[in-house]
Amino acid sequence: MTHKLLLLAGDGIGPEAMAEVKKLIAVMNENGASFVTEEGLVGGCAYDAHGAAISDADMAKATAADAVLFGAVGGPKWDGVPYDVRPEAGLLRLRKDLELFANLRPAICYPALASSSSLKQDVIEGLDILILRELTGGVYFGEPKQITDLGNGQKRAVDTQVYDTYEIERIAAMAFELARTRNNHVTSMEKRNVMKSGVLWNEVVTATHKAYSDVKLDHMLADAGGMQLVRWPKQFDVIVTDNLFGDMLSDVAAMLTGSLGMLPSASLGAPDAKTGKRKALYEPVHGSAPDIAGKGIANPIAMIASFAMCLRYSFDMVVEADRLEAAIAAVLADGLRTKDIMSDGMREVGTVEMGDAIIAK
Ligand code: NAI
Ligand code: MG
Repeated sequence: MTHKLLLLAGDGIGPEAMAEVKKLIAVMNENGASFVTEEGLVGGCAYDAHGAAISDADMAKATAADAVLFGAVGGPKWDGVPYDVRPEAGLLRLRKDLELFANLRPAICYPALASSSSLKQDVIEGLDILILRELTGGVYFGEPKQITDLGNGQKRAVDTQVYDTYEIERIAAMAFELARTRNNHVTSMEKRNVMKSGVLWNEVVTATHKAYSDVKLDHMLADAGGMQLVRWPKQFDVIVTDNLFGDMLSDVAAMLTGSLGMLPSASLGAPDAKTGKRKALYEPVHGSAPDIAGKGIANPIAMIASFAMCLRYSFDMVVEADRLEAAIAAVLADGLRTKDIMSDGMREVGTVEMGDAIIAK
């Protein structure tokens, strides 16, 4: 069976990081895998070509693909373009049109990097947790959303947090399913003490848990959760939370593990009623890094690790995903470092050398 991938490299270091994944895909195909890739434009480069952050034709390719690999978008060149067609609009359209309601952000501390971290070593060594953020609901999308002039020199800004039962059910179910493939433990975070959406979140997660009684479930208030995440992150396995809290908590967790250049992510939709396959987009957490673009020094690990997530979650290629992640760890253990993660006594390499070393492993 062939696996159809759409590669959207985007702007800045996006294409440099994607080039390393393309090499990897070619090597896997030479060794019996059957990936079929197509490419498209997203972000500033798409705006330059079509006047839109993603064209309808590329959107159609994304819908037809089994998975989308996304690099990064944006840069100072497009700072002045109209809001609707700004580079980020391409990513937002992909998330919305593909209904990618679940954002998976692993925070893994590679053993070779733990000792050079400025954080306490026993806190982060061996860390491997997954933050599952609801991505299409909550206060970022709820209506009304407006600023009104109160006429007395004052304005009022309103954002609205809205969650329906089904939105909480599907993200909770995914959390329990993911936990079953890991350490069987879910921590749900909300603020039921002050928010109605927190009360419903807690209720629905608890009800959904009935079908997953083999998985351990804890509830934590999100502010206390933030504190615990910094104090002793290894107490967690899967954290499931809403869009806003997830945005913040995943950035906190990210910094437990080192550089932005190391962090992958996945965004998944609901399983298709006929095929059971989920729409999916895989992307590094970092942006287009205009400050280092074109220099050949970007860390490709976040992009390569995003492809490992693609193997795991879109194609059930668990063995291959494990091997790819082990290759990343092994190359780091050999002392190879891109500039962003460089430390004393290690060997500094560029984007291409890092990619080649991982592929060789
Ligand atoms: P950024 O993630 O692009 O860069 C932040 C810092 O981290 C920079 O110093 C950069 O050099 C470094 N960095 C990031 N990725 C790296 C890698 N793989 N290897 C080595 N160093 C790396 O965030 P910033 O500077 O805030 O945004 C730059 C542009 O990217 C903006 O236009 C922003 O809108 C866009 N952006 C796009 C995202 C996306 O496509 N999903 C996400 C975040 C920002
Ligand atoms: Mg964020």
